[in-house]
Amino acid sequence: MSIVAHNIRKIGVMGAGQMGTGIALVSALRAKVPVLLYDRSPEQTTKGLAFVDKLLEKDVNKGRIQSIDAKEAKDRIHIVGHEEGIKGMRDVDMVIEAVSESLPLKQAIFASLAAEINPNAILATNTSSISITKIAASAVPKDVSAASEEGKKIAGRVVGLHFFNPVPVMKLVELISALQTTPDVLNRARSFAVACGKEVTTSKDVPGFVSNALLMPFINEAIMCLEKGIATKEDIDTTLKLGMNHPMGPLQLADFIGLDTCLAIQQTLYEGTRDSKYRPSILLERMVDAQWYGKKNGKGFYEY
Ligand code: 3HC
Repeated sequence: MSIVAHNIRKIGVMGAGQMGTGIALVSALRAKVPVLLYDRSPEQTTKGLAFVDKLLEKDVNKGRIQSIDAKEAKDRIHIVGHEEGIKGMRDVDMVIEAVSESLPLKQAIFASLAAEINPNAILATNTSSISITKIAASAVPKDVSAASEEGKKIAGRVVGLHFFNPVPVMKLVELISALQTTPDVLNRARSFAVACGKEVTTSKDVPGFVSNALLMPFINEAIMCLEKGIATKEDIDTTLKLGMNHPMGPLQLADFIGLDTCLAIQQTLYEGTRDSKYRPSILLERMVDAQWYGKKNGKGFYEY
């Protein structure tokens, strides 16, 4: 099934961090659709585009793609200026939101997207753990009943499309239906992920979905192991790398994901389930208090 058959001819990506940039790249290179990329920080967008250039150049040098493919992919990515904001994306067929893991921020974005964007466009979120149902509800304007046909139509456009970091490398996308998502939106979102070269799994809309409901307790347990002095950080990571063939140890992976992101996900899991197995470790909380966010700002469990 082609993307055009699903009426996804152009997409918007909100957020030019490591996830948004990766999503823009696979959409332009693999699904071959024009991408409008927006971030409230112009510096972040410039940094994101420079990274896209670097990855495309590497793929050309390794003979994986031709230089014409790299050029075409780059030319498909367009920056939306700060003045235009969300309005600059109004004619897209799908928006993928990839901003930081904050419910109020996502709620504000989805309210604006529903108001500003083509009313038939899919509104996808790359959230790692937040309820897609709650995000979908925030798309419905205050003066429209969520139970009315209009309210159901608006919220029915919202879907979870969870990519993994680094997006160009990781083969999975997790697809999550909100209570309100329509089957058509779910199918079209799935076919878009497939066109990006990804394998798709589905999860119910539970805190953390399948991926982070399993990954975060593992990472947290590793942090508590360090906190209790059971082993050094190097030994914890090496045990998992060499003993279980994980590409990265859990502490290195936490740094890679971002300690602030790990904490935000763990808080959502803990608040959403009230299950003590999801309670974030104090050491993780303190590291985020210290603004040691991992690889992204140079200091986490390791120095970068
Ligand atoms: N962006 C794009 N590509 C990247 C990258 C990045 N940030 N980091 C590494 N790569 C690419 C490299 O360029 C290289 O590509 P190549 O094969 O074309 O040369 C390839 O990945 C392998 O890189 P390296 O040889 O430098 O290093 P490694 O062999 O150690 O691989 C890794 C790096 C792919 C990141 C590997 O360590 C890995 O798979 N780690 C686990 C990643 C993981 O678990 N991700 C999921 C995180 S959870 C998540 O995203 C969900 C969220 O909700 C929290």
